[in-house]
Amino acid sequence: MTTLSPRELLAPKGRPEPKPGTYYIQTWGCQMNEEDSEQMALYLQDLGFTPVNSVWEAQIVLLNTCSVRKKPEDKAFSLMGELRSLKRYNPEMVLGVCGCMAQTRANEIRHRNPHVDFVLGTGDLALLPGLVTESLQTRRFRKRTELPERKGKVVTDIPRRHLGRTGKLKAFVPIQYGCDKFCTYCIVPKTRGRERSRPTAEILEEVRKLADQGTQEITLLGQTVNSYGKNLLEGNVPFAQLLWQISEIPGIERIRYTSPYPRDFSQELVETIRDCPAVMENVHLPLQSGDDEVLREMRRVYTVESFIEIATRIRETVPGVTFSTDIIVGFPGETEAQFESTCQAVRDIRFDAAFTFAYSTRPGTPAGDREDQIPREEKLRRLAHLIEVQNDITRDINVAYVDQELEVLFDSASPKWPGTIQGYSREFKLVQVQGSEDRIGRIAKVKVTESHLWGFSGTLV
Ligand code: SAH
Ligand code: SF4
Ligand code: F3S
Repeated sequence: MTTLSPRELLAPKGRPEPKPGTYYIQTWGCQMNEEDSEQMALYLQDLGFTPVNSVWEAQIVLLNTCSVRKKPEDKAFSLMGELRSLKRYNPEMVLGVCGCMAQTRANEIRHRNPHVDFVLGTGDLALLPGLVTESLQTRRFRKRTELPERKGKVVTDIPRRHLGRTGKLKAFVPIQYGCDKFCTYCIVPKTRGRERSRPTAEILEEVRKLADQGTQEITLLGQTVNSYGKNLLEGNVPFAQLLWQISEIPGIERIRYTSPYPRDFSQELVETIRDCPAVMENVHLPLQSGDDEVLREMRRVYTVESFIEIATRIRETVPGVTFSTDIIVGFPGETEAQFESTCQAVRDIRFDAAFTFAYSTRPGTPAGDREDQIPREEKLRRLAHLIEVQNDITRDINVAYVDQELEVLFDSASPKWPGTIQGYSREFKLVQVQGSEDRIGRIAKVKVTESHLWGFSGTLV
C-alpha cells in the first residue's frame, strides 16, 4: 500500500494525462482498512476500472481514511485540500472519502471540501459501486454513513468480494467488525460500531477460495479478535475452534490473528497455539500501559500483574513463542512515575517488538475531553525514551538467535539488496538470505548468521 505524502502524490515527474476508466486508492490506518481498500478495488474492477499509480491519472480517486490518531486525519485533510486544484485540472474526476473519518466527520469533510463527490462510512462497502455510478452521472453530493446496528439489528453477513483475488501469498480475512471495549482513549468503537462476528461458514468459505488461489498465510482481523463468537448464531464456533477449522483447509500453512484482548485469552487458545501446526508462535498482546492506575483510567480491564500472568502462561505452554505489543505514552494525567512503571513493565515482560504511540487527543472520547492533557514535547520525550528501552531489548533478544535455524516463508525480493530475498519466520521475525526469486512462496529452513534490530540475515540450510 502506498503512503506517499500529498506533495509527492501531486507532483510526479512530468504530468501524466488523466486516463478515463481508471482508479487510485490512497489508504491510511490499520490492516482492517488495507483489507477494505482491497475490497473497494475489487468493486471498482467489477465496474470495469483499472488501477493507476497516481492521482493525476485516475478518474476515480478514493481516500480510505483513519481516525485513530490526529496525524493520519491531518494527512487526509491535507490531500483532500490539494485535490481541489487537481479536480480543476481533471473535471471528470470522482472523489470519494471513505473509512473511519468518513464515518465520524462526514459533514465537516463536506463543509471543508465542497469538491468531494461522496462520503462513505465503514458500515457498508457494498454501497460503493452505486455511489461511483451515481457520481459519474450527476455530481450531487452523497453521504452514506449508517452503521449496521443503528438500524436496530446486528448484521453479520456483510457482503464481501472474493473473486479476482488471485495468487496472493498472504491475505487478511476480517472475522469480526467493530468493538465493544470502549477504551477511553480510542475512537474505533465510534468509527466501526458495535462488535459483530462474521458467520463461521462464511469465513471458512472465504479462506477456502483464497487457498484455492494460492494463499498460504491468513491473518484473521478483529479489534478484539479472540472474543470472536460473542452473539454467535447457531452453527458458529468460538475463536480457538475457528483456528483449528481454518488450519484443516488444504494449502493453508500459516495462521496469524490480530489483535487479541489480554483478558479474553482463554486456556483453550493458549493450547491451540501450541498444538495447531498452522498457528504461528507469535502473539501480539497489547499492553497499552504498565501502570494499574493508568490502565484503569484507560478502561483496560486487566492489571499489569494479570497481563504478566497471561504472558507467562503462554510462554510456559508454547516453546519459542514471541510477543509484540502496543503501548501509549502520555495518556492524560500520566505522571513521570507512571511512565517509568511502563518502562519497567517493558523491561520485565521483554516483548520482541513494540508499537509505541504518543497519546493523541481524540475529541468525543472520555480521555480526549480531559483537561489534564500532557504537553506534546513531553509525550515525544517519553516516546523516544520508551523506544530506546524497547530497542535495547529487541537487540538483546535477537542476538540469542544467531546460529539457530528458523522456518521462513519467503514473500518478496529485498527492496534494498539485489539478489536477496526475505520473509518471516514462525516467530514473526524478518529474515533475509541470498537466494533466487523462485523461492518466493516457499517455506525453507534458514540458519541465522547475523542479528539486527529489524531481524536477521541468514543462509539457506
Ligand atoms: N483493537 C486493538 C487496537 C486498535 S488501534 C487493540 O485493542 O489492541 C491500534 C493501537 O493504536 C492501539 O493498540 C493503541 O495502542 C493505539 N491507539 C489507539 N487510540 C490511540 C490514541 N488516541 N492515541 C494514541 N494511540 C492510540
Ligand atoms: Fe480501541 Fe480498545 Fe476497542 Fe482496541 S479494544 S479498538 S483500543 S476500544
Ligand atoms: Fe484507523 Fe479505523 Fe483502523 S481509525 S486504525 S483505520 S479501525
